[in-house]
Amino acid sequence: MIDRPRIGVLISGGGTNLQAIIDSVKMGVLSGEIVCVLSNKKEAYGLMRAYKNNIPSEFVQNSAMEATLEKYSPDILVLAGYLGILEKPLIDRYRGRILNIHPSLIPKYCGKGFYGIRVHEAVIKNKERVTGATVHLVDEGIDTGEILIQKEVCVFDSDDALALQKRVLEVEHEILIEGIEMLRRRM
Ligand code: GRF
Repeated sequence: MIDRPRIGVLISGGGTNLQAIIDSVKMGVLSGEIVCVLSNKKEAYGLMRAYKNNIPSEFVQNSAMEATLEKYSPDILVLAGYLGILEKPLIDRYRGRILNIHPSLIPKYCGKGFYGIRVHEAVIKNKERVTGATVHLVDEGIDTGEILIQKEVCVFDSDDALALQKRVLEVEHEILIEGIEMLRRRM
C-alpha cells in the first residue's frame, strides 16, 4: 500500500471528476497528491480547475502523453472524463494502475461511441429503469478492464438526458474517490 500516492489526472472536458479528487485530497478524505493534470483538449475547463489549485497542468497530444507523464512520475493515473485513447506502451507501463470512470453500469452502454451525454440519451431511449456509474481499470480495450466499483442510479419517468447525467455525475464523483482509495490499498 502506498501511503500518499502521486496521482496523475487525464481530462478532456469540464473536470467535475477532477474537482471531486481535488476536494477529497484537500479535505483529507483521499490520501494522495495530484502531481499533474494533463488534457488533450486545449479548451478543457479542467485545466483552469488545476491552475486555481496550483496543480501543474498541460495541454498534451495523445501521442506525447507517455513522455509528458514521465516528468511527473505518477503512481496512479486517473482518466477523469478523458476522451483520448491511451497508446499501448503507456498502458503497459502503468498496467494495473490506471482508473477510468464511466457513466453507465458496464457492460451496458459502454464501448465505442458511448461517452458523455450519449450514454444517458441511450438509457432513456431504451426506457431503462436503472443506470449508474462504473470505476474500472484500463486495459487495451474501450471500457473493458477489471471493474472495481459500480453504483446504481434510478431513472425517473420525468428524466431527460441532462437531468439523468447530473444525478449520475454525482455518483461518479463518489465512487471515483472510493476507487482511487481501493487501488491505493492494493498497490
Ligand atoms: C462526463 O460525461 C462523465 O460522465 C464522464 O466524462 C464526462 C465529463 O466529466 N466520466 P468531467 O465533468 O469532465 O469530469
